[in-house]
Amino acid sequence: MSTESTLRAVTTHRLLEMKQRGEKIAMLTAYDYSMARILDAAGIDVILVGDSAANVMAGHETTVPMTLDNMIYHGRSVVRGVKRALVVVDLPFGTYQGDSKQALASAIRIMKETEADAVKLEGGVEIIESVERILCAGIPVMGHLGLTPQSIHKFGTYTVRAKEEAEAQKLISDARALQDAGCFAIVLEKIPASLASEVAQQLTVPIIGIGAGGGVDGQVLVSHDMLGINQEFSPRFLRRYASVGDIMSEAFKHYIEDVKSKDFPNEHEQY
Ligand code: KIV
Repeated sequence: MSTESTLRAVTTHRLLEMKQRGEKIAMLTAYDYSMARILDAAGIDVILVGDSAANVMAGHETTVPMTLDNMIYHGRSVVRGVKRALVVVDLPFGTYQGDSKQALASAIRIMKETEADAVKLEGGVEIIESVERILCAGIPVMGHLGLTPQSIHKFGTYTVRAKEEAEAQKLISDARALQDAGCFAIVLEKIPASLASEVAQQLTVPIIGIGAGGGVDGQVLVSHDMLGINQEFSPRFLRRYASVGDIMSEAFKHYIEDVKSKDFPNEHEQY
């Protein structure tokens, strides 16, 4: 029998402690085993198996077509590559809105079939019943407010949210409701930095921002975007840390040349 624990080192409690001592939380997305292994070994705190897989892995324009089976496939692949980081899996569109029983069933499938640590849901008071029911089953929940891409057909655009006072006030009360329900952290996407900072100061749970400025408790980006694999997407909040797309393109061209010119394989590269 193996004595090695399958519990990962970063826990929801540890994230809370990080907020309390002012240590910023670093979170990035992964959708497959190889990327997850590299991220985990680099020391990332949280890996999000985001439904942005719909965009960067499957080429869909929105995250709406993502299915629960797709998320479970990506979640399992990521979990196999992670020893340390906390792994959070998105519940996709249509698997939790409006029906808390269905929400619980979806979250249980994610937890049982992927062995991830937590789920993430988009929305505030409208989905609070679903959030509460999932939490009652002992499943940690991360909230997501501001620009919630699963509602893109309602918003109509991907522009900055909560610039007006009424929407800002609703966001603050949604964040409070999620915290009161028991969410362990909340993602705030594409909202004014001053509002995000105010929420982070008012709430005790960690606030993770994407396009929400530096006054929050942590940051998240889509790995393919920050690595420059997906080069078409370049919003102001995105810092590019590499041009991996260019490196891949060069390598592919080089390989094609070598095959065409019969340079590859040479006598050392055969049996
Ligand atoms: O799906 C995703 O990648 C996300 C992040 C943008 C927060 O929800």
